[in-house]
Amino acid sequence: MNWHVRYTQQANWTQELREYLFQRTGIEKAHRVLEVGCGTGAVLSGIRSQALHGLDLQPASLMEARVHAPAASLTCGDALSLPYADETFDISFCHFLLLWVAEPQRVLHEMKRITAQGGHVLALAEPDYNARVDEPAELAVLGRWQAESLKRQEADPSIGARLAELFYQAGIELVETGAIGSRRNDAPAPAEWELEWAVLEHDLAGFVPVEEVQRLKELDAQARARGVRILHVPTYFAWGRA
Ligand SMILES: C[S@@+](CC[C@H](N)C(=O)[O-])C[C@H]1O[C@@H](n2cnc3c(N)ncnc32)[C@H](O)[C@@H]1O
Repeated sequence: MNWHVRYTQQANWTQELREYLFQRTGIEKAHRVLEVGCGTGAVLSGIRSQALHGLDLQPASLMEARVHAPAASLTCGDALSLPYADETFDISFCHFLLLWVAEPQRVLHEMKRITAQGGHVLALAEPDYNARVDEPAELAVLGRWQAESLKRQEADPSIGARLAELFYQAGIELVETGAIGSRRNDAPAPAEWELEWAVLEHDLAGFVPVEEVQRLKELDAQARARGVRILHVPTYFAWGRA
């Protein structure tokens, strides 16, 4: 699996939202901006700012981020205990991170702490796989399997539904929150569809028989060809002031 390709695909899903929120929070004038859990730099690489910082737990991801986002200062560290002084950043944000951490509220506390008072804290994309919508109905099992697989990986598949509450509990004053929009014509191009399935096959390996996964992949392809396939994972964002 090429994770940078996957993260770039996910970053495309939130591009419009990021443009809106980064413009509203004045990112171009910010002195210091941090992405917590920056991975391979898929999001950082698209930001025009001279003051970019990225932090991740995985040294290998940071090596890739160095290539994709050469202007960013990168740090290896843990979101649960951010290695920065209080009020270091004007904006701190994360993107598809909180579902993967054991204590998301603690991460938000940390993001609030290292953000200047009145500065911005953003959680840009947190899914609720428990509310995934699949049509035709025969494909609904895919959503249940995916949620189960995320739990086995110690992720929280429905964290998106709790995002606003987590901001509140972390003492971050909520400015705006909601679900990220999707449109019917957002149907993936063939290469994107293959990538989506590659991720699913990776996630389901070892707990769903390969033949069953392939049968559903074929059903999915047929439904798409008939124009009756719907796949929607509600994904939430939150913007608050530290
Ligand atoms: C799904 S990836 C998203 C990467 C990037 N934000 C993006 O959207 O392209 C989640 C990232 O969070 C990182 N991560 C998970 N737990 C972390 C923690 N406790 N501290 C820092 N990074 C963490 C992982 O190493 C991974 O790179």
